[in-house]
Amino acid sequence: MEGIGKAYLDYNATTPLDPLVIGVITESLKCEWGNPSSAHSLGKLASDRIGRSREQVAAMINAHANDIVFMSGGTEANIVALQSGLNSITKPNSKECNIVLPHVITSNVEHDSVKNYLSVQQDCGKIDLSFAQVDKASGQLRPESVLSLVNNRTCLISVMHANNETGVLMPIMEIGQALKALNVSRSQNNLPKIYFHTDSAQSLGKVKVDVKQLEVDYLTIVGHKVLGVSELGGYHGYWRFGGWRGGGWRARIWPGYWRLEVGGRGFGPDIGHLEVGGQEFNMFNLHGYWRFGGWRARFWPGYEYISGYLEVFARYPPSSEFYGPRIGALFVKDLLTQTPLVPLLQGGGQERGFRSGTENTPMIAGLGQAAELVVQNLDKYMEHMTRCRNALISNLKDQIHDIRINFVVDPRLPNTVSLQVPQNVTAQKVLENCNGKIFASLGAACHSNSQKPSSILMASGLSPEEAGRTIRISIGRTTPDSEIEFAVKVLTEACKRA
Ligand SMILES: Cc1ncc(COP(=O)(O)O)c(C=O)c1O
Repeated sequence: MEGIGKAYLDYNATTPLDPLVIGVITESLKCEWGNPSSAHSLGKLASDRIGRSREQVAAMINAHANDIVFMSGGTEANIVALQSGLNSITKPNSKECNIVLPHVITSNVEHDSVKNYLSVQQDCGKIDLSFAQVDKASGQLRPESVLSLVNNRTCLISVMHANNETGVLMPIMEIGQALKALNVSRSQNNLPKIYFHTDSAQSLGKVKVDVKQLEVDYLTIVGHKVLGVSELGGYHGYWRFGGWRGGGWRARIWPGYWRLEVGGRGFGPDIGHLEVGGQEFNMFNLHGYWRFGGWRARFWPGYEYISGYLEVFARYPPSSEFYGPRIGALFVKDLLTQTPLVPLLQGGGQERGFRSGTENTPMIAGLGQAAELVVQNLDKYMEHMTRCRNALISNLKDQIHDIRINFVVDPRLPNTVSLQVPQNVTAQKVLENCNGKIFASLGAACHSNSQKPSSILMASGLSPEEAGRTIRISIGRTTPDSEIEFAVKVLTEACKRA
């Protein structure tokens, strides 16, 4: 982006799609449009794709494929996890159902989808809710702050893995391990099990996420925050040929993506295979990758048809960006045997009855591809983001007096910088002075229209005035050095003029 005088540094709000992810979604839109529940071959093609994606998503978090349920996004996954954990305690005949008022613990810096859902349950008198407070000096959460709130009625704890505004990582593994031991003794004393949920929307693709290590029962997965880059830099090309005799050709080019079509009209769906003389061959898929397939030729008097395609994925300039689609999933530990999942949507029984509604195959396919890229490249992503973040911080400190970087703690996300601009200047004014050259935010994207200082920043120890001077900068996996230099230059000038 820097080449055109702009720097996108708002990756915690959302991410563009990886060309590989675009390729898989496009192919799925064209070839896997059948209803995954249909018994015929087009239905099977779609349901096979969903099965493959489930395995890819599971591999990313070291889970079993059976324990993944696809959903619309993070909000839905969070709410389903919470209502499922709560339901465990109110289910008739369960040993816990004699508990009068279930007790739930969460932190005071959760995303609104967690905080608001639980607050409504509390207002309706359905639960007793406790908020564990993060440390005012660091934004960190101590495991004891959560565990000390546990009582005999506690049935659910929900703590996010990484905070979307401060970038601070929460001690999920420590809490999970402590709960595992605690649940053994609670079971012996006939007390309800405490289920543990974490919202991993901001940590996937930025740090290692392993559900076995974290010891969680539920984990929220969100595609568009985190997932899916090819290499550092990539390239996607698609060349299609075919059509009736005399068909034309077309070319389409946009940044990071080119497409050449020769021949005008298609012939049914591309089904992703090579067909020669009635014999079928699977598509080539070499490394990461080029492929050729789906061609066919027919000749009869006065009529001829030939079609096919060549798809190429290679490197493109690193300023192009890319991640996963706007869809999500919920991990549920030992879903069919151990941990309850109460569907939010009832209906046709898709997703084994856990999430009704015809599956969005192309987006699920894209999520699977994005997850696979995380498995292959996480170390590279982390290294790149950490290097860029450190360069940004040290260059900003060199250039602008009186700035402060909030929440410089360990562990934290490698891509997030909470920047406090100098006194007597507001963050709003500094961003305005950037004249649209820097895409960053004042806090969570869903609060960007609010004039009030961020409640998350204030809960994490900043005064209202300091929160009003804070800009959230979040770096991407392939943000080039030149974009960091550009951002430092623009922010320095913007602060001087503010
Ligand atoms: C930490 C966290 N959880 C959940 C969500 C909700 O995700 P979605 O808006 O995709 O439903 C977000 C998105 O902002 C988030 O940052």
